[in-house]
Amino acid sequence: MKPVAIVTGGARGIGRACALALAERHHDIVLIDLREPEMDTTRLELEAKGSKVLTFAADVSDFTRAHDIVDQIYSQWNHIDVLVNNAGGPNPKGILEITEQEFDRTISVNLKSCFNYIHAIAPIMLKQEHGGRIVSMSSLNALSGGVTSAVSKHSYAAAKAGILGLTRSLAKELGPLIAINAICPGVIKTEIGNDLTRSREPELIKGIALNRLGNPKDVAELVAFLCTNKEMFITGQHFVVDGFQWVC
Ligand SMILES: NC(=O)c1ccc[n+]([C@@H]2O[C@H](COP(=O)([O-])OP(=O)(O)OC[C@H]3O[C@@H](n4cnc5c(N)ncnc54)[C@H](O)[C@@H]3O)[C@@H](O)[C@H]2O)c1
Repeated sequence: MKPVAIVTGGARGIGRACALALAERHHDIVLIDLREPEMDTTRLELEAKGSKVLTFAADVSDFTRAHDIVDQIYSQWNHIDVLVNNAGGPNPKGILEITEQEFDRTISVNLKSCFNYIHAIAPIMLKQEHGGRIVSMSSLNALSGGVTSAVSKHSYAAAKAGILGLTRSLAKELGPLIAINAICPGVIKTEIGNDLTRSREPELIKGIALNRLGNPKDVAELVAFLCTNKEMFITGQHFVVDGFQWVC
């Protein structure tokens, strides 16, 4: 029986890389994303690695839909072993431009989405003898604050900082059966990252000790470690994957 891993926002970018890394470690995979064509392409790549794959076209900010999807996954497999809360996206608006609705949407997509899926999956993982593993995608911006470039500002930074509070609290509520951690990526070259950073890449690299931007695999390998290593004494933590960046 293969372990089952759910990856939200798994159609492309960091989520796709996480799904591939978990498939390489012999997991069956569930992708949840808004982008159906990209999700179908990723599904084929995962199946080529020998994983069974379920896909759901859904908005992760929808609480009821999250519970409905998790019920469907559980009735198919009878266990859920890994949750990667990866779906999210930036909001470049400053405090003088943003509307209440835009602020709420950024919090919903980046933070409430994590709550939605953890709320649905925790009761299942807590019933399993082996428990489960959860990793949520925060951001370097959670620690540094939103940057002055167009990439992200306060609403995104607040949502991603919220993930760190959620992670620390839930590690205590859900331990010892469930280990839950967060990742804070720096600038990672993905479709969205490419759009937002292409023109600033040379300037950004000057402020990164490892002298390059990150790749989705840089993040995915750490996610896979946190989700699959047998002896686990790590929970409630966040891990920065940024090549040591000191200029945002
Ligand atoms: N790329 C970076 O530099 C970077 C840095 C820090 C944090 N992050 C975080 O990493 C995660 C992945 O980012 P990425 O760079 O791979 O972005 P991406 O845009 O390439 O991929 C994000 C995926 O999430 C999906 N998604 C977005 N909103 C959704 C919603 N409401 N419901 C369902 N699916 C949704 C998108 O369709 C997309 O497939 C995000 O949470 C992002 O905030 C990225």
